Amino acid sequence: MNDTNRKTGSLVPAVVITGATQGIGRALADEFAQDGHALLLVARDEARLADVARDLAKRHNIEVRFAACDLGTVEGCDRVEQALRQSGFYADVLVNNAAVMTAGFFQDEDLSKIRQIVDLNVGAVADLTLRFLPGMLARGKGGVLNIASVEGFMPVPYQAIYAATKAAIISLSRALAYETMGSGVRISVAAPGPITTEMHAKAGAEHSRYVQYLPMMSAEEMAHAAYRGFKRGNWVIIAGWFNRLIALGVRFIPGFFLIPSVGWFFRVRDAEGNLQEPRPLPKPETLKDVTKERTG
Ligand SMILES: NC(=O)c1ccc[n+]([C@@H]2O[C@H](COP(=O)([O-])OP(=O)(O)OC[C@H]3O[C@@H](n4cnc5c(N)ncnc54)[C@H](OP(=O)(O)O)[C@@H]3O)[C@@H](O)[C@H]2O)c1
Repeated sequence: MNDTNRKTGSLVPAVVITGATQGIGRALADEFAQDGHALLLVARDEARLADVARDLAKRHNIEVRFAACDLGTVEGCDRVEQALRQSGFYADVLVNNAAVMTAGFFQDEDLSKIRQIVDLNVGAVADLTLRFLPGMLARGKGGVLNIASVEGFMPVPYQAIYAATKAAIISLSRALAYETMGSGVRISVAAPGPITTEMHAKAGAEHSRYVQYLPMMSAEEMAHAAYRGFKRGNWVIIAGWFNRLIALGVRFIPGFFLIPSVGWFFRVRDAEGNLQEPRPLPKPETLKDVTKERTG
């Protein structure tokens, strides 16, 4: 057990929120702030973190600190622990929200990008949870709120790795919720459907049919539902009747129908609606160079 977990006497209980500068993480920071919690905000963009921290501290009259780091690295996760110590905080609640999405044919992805996604979307969640959960269990209070996605309930062509990381988070969270039952520590996972944030455009998926045709929710609505579910101690939080129907329905829909249907919604398109095609395959004799190019 580390220092932060052992000595809590004079330390202030805080909520650590990753990916707190925009979208759902920003809205979740507001939810916790409204209830007077001290916050440690985490993201890479330091200037943006400082703006959000200033705004929250002023509006809610709470202590807000931040740590600018890349959570896809062990050093980034070390930095969170260090920032807690420097702030005189301990992690009472951990909100694992930061994640990135990628869209398109998996075969065309860069290896380094795929590694970054797995390291952030799964690696950082496991790392930070393992750093702070033992302290929560020792104190018999606190909790972890993980943000997954309804995509985690099914295979998603054209967002294959992203959906796979979210499936891992749902699985991890439910297993940990069981392991920690009766300890006083809450472990919840929220599985949002499509939310109106910049994530889709960052991934190049803003013209995909799911963005156009599926019901979208605001980050604020989603954060409110996630916070309420977490406070109630719900293991799995799904907001909106449509998303609940999807999460339940996919268990009964055969794969031969489910996967092509999901693929139809998630295929990447351009602004004119033209479908993205995979990059032309290299000639077998140049394959070595392509691998080299993708690994950098
Ligand atoms: N939007 C949706 O439709 C949707 C649906 C279902 C689930 N979700 C999930 O909800 C969560 C939040 O999504 P969002 O749409 O709000 O995302 P977003 O608007 O793109 O915000 C992502 C946040 O994560 C931070 N971040 C990204 N990479 C990071 C890294 N390597 N290290 C530290 N921080 C990093 C970003 O700040 P910096 O860039 O400054 O680092 C930003 O604060 C994610 O887990 C996502 O998978 C979203």
